[in-house]
Amino acid sequence: MPAPILAPSLLAGDHANLAASAAQVARLGLSWLHLDIMDGHFVPNLTFGPETLAALRRAGSTLFFDTHLMLAEPQRYIEPFAKAGANLISIHIEPDYDHADTLARIRQLGCQAGIVLNPDTPADAVAQLLDRVDLVLVMTVQPGFGGQAFRPAMLPKLRQLAAWRREHGYAWRLEVDGGIDLHNLPDCHQAGADTFVAGTSFFRAPDQAAYAATVKALG
Ligand code: DX5
Ligand code: ZN
Repeated sequence: MPAPILAPSLLAGDHANLAASAAQVARLGLSWLHLDIMDGHFVPNLTFGPETLAALRRAGSTLFFDTHLMLAEPQRYIEPFAKAGANLISIHIEPDYDHADTLARIRQLGCQAGIVLNPDTPADAVAQLLDRVDLVLVMTVQPGFGGQAFRPAMLPKLRQLAAWRREHGYAWRLEVDGGIDLHNLPDCHQAGADTFVAGTSFFRAPDQAAYAATVKALG
């Protein structure tokens, strides 16, 4: 299993000063930043677009931009996000578009490619794509909003994906996103996850350095 990574979600950062929230993550020695992109169609909320990533780069952020597209038509926005500084672009399996082609285009643009499953989507739905991704993201809440409760019913899905990864020797990361905190994070790790998105629990943590150290120690 790859070494554990904590990816704080900027959605729970300070939207009046996102660069400061990103800098706060970097100061702790963390390398990943999770960026939630919502379009008001695939999910009932709006966040920010490629210009925000570009602005974070201009403000000096060298963090690994883990970009989670919650879009009805993600295939239309791959290039602007790649150009704006995304390092990894994850797309959902649920909308109807050419997933394989979009994943290939993400890689052609020099980014890593991820596939995402909503809570109601079974692992089987992504089985055909597992040899062409760098990350599989299992949503542990219904996407759209931060601060929701973690769904323990997603643990068997993680175990299933981790078993396939072992059996086939896949090298992708297995990421969880939604309601992650220091209580359920070890359960997700046990089930096979190695990459942990944390919004609310991280930005509200009284001791973020201790939070980061706990995740690092899982390795
Ligand atoms: C939810 C987003 C998450 C969100 C997680 O739709 O995909 O990345 O920021 O926030 P918490 O950790 O507060 O559930
Ligand atoms: Zn997310």
